[in-house]
Amino acid sequence: MTKLSEQQTIDRVNELRKKHNAVILAHNYQVPVIQDIADFVGDSLELSYKARDFDSNLIIFCGVHFMAETAAIICPEKKILIPDLGAGCSLAATINAKELKKWKQQHPDAAVVSYVNTTAEVKALTDICCTSSNAVKVVESIPKNKKILFLPDMFLAMYVKRITKRDNIEVWPGECHVHAGIKPQHIHEKLKQHPKADFLIHPECGCSTYCMVYFADKDIPQTTTKILSTSGMVKHAKESKKKDFVVSTETGILYPLKKKNPDKNFYPVKDDAICEYMKMITLDKVLNSFENMVYDVTVPYHIAKPAKRAIERMLEIS
Ligand code: 13P
Ligand code: SF4
Repeated sequence: MTKLSEQQTIDRVNELRKKHNAVILAHNYQVPVIQDIADFVGDSLELSYKARDFDSNLIIFCGVHFMAETAAIICPEKKILIPDLGAGCSLAATINAKELKKWKQQHPDAAVVSYVNTTAEVKALTDICCTSSNAVKVVESIPKNKKILFLPDMFLAMYVKRITKRDNIEVWPGECHVHAGIKPQHIHEKLKQHPKADFLIHPECGCSTYCMVYFADKDIPQTTTKILSTSGMVKHAKESKKKDFVVSTETGILYPLKKKNPDKNFYPVKDDAICEYMKMITLDKVLNSFENMVYDVTVPYHIAKPAKRAIERMLEIS
């Protein structure tokens, strides 16, 4: 069979999307062509809402596995397909259910707050989930005197600890290999080149703790530094009067930033901050998903039920 051109592939995807009344959801780090064909592009929290709210029984989820799994937990009646089952997450892989059970046994009175970058089994052992855009709000919803086990991202946990001024948060030492690789020296170099720019930083970054500490010393400009989720960055760039932005996260975000703000300039702190898992989703694989109805993402009921409760508690307060 002759290989379809990119436009032919897009046309075929559109035909099948219509035929199945399907929806394509894509994360902000997806490659440009996937973002362009998606019905909605957003951050983890927005994608959870959209999976629930779109009036469609078939969702092609262009992101990583835990995100598709979250959609499957929230909407068990819908068919959720991921174009490549290998699209994992190094951060979600830092803790499994057995390890969490053991940690809980060591702190029997603590509440468990899990970042959505976790497997369904871990969510099932969680009291309340959070994302980068609502982690502070979620922690603040828990009584001040209650101990919290926060997992799996240590940089997000340290950010939340500092903002909420709580010292009763135990931190799981997990990190994402992409964000952990962004170091203070990368920031200093870029901020020196663009001294007037706003500095947008994702709380998963290895440099986020450093930045917060150095805000105080004015080593990093406090008023122009914003710690935001991926969609929070897009929103901020749109609303800001600034023209230049230094961006500290996975470089896929540069595409929606530029697309929604064509007259502004975005400079990545680190050019090779690339999540290879996110880039596993390609146009050909999306077409394959439609043609062969692959790959199903399902969660067994006994895991989905408690996991859903933890996600819904988060959605209620977001
Ligand atoms: P956001 O929820 O900010 O999009 O982050 C998800 C993620 O995996 C970042 O690496
Ligand atoms: Fe996971 Fe990191 Fe990729 Fe986000 S960038 S999906 S946290 S591996």
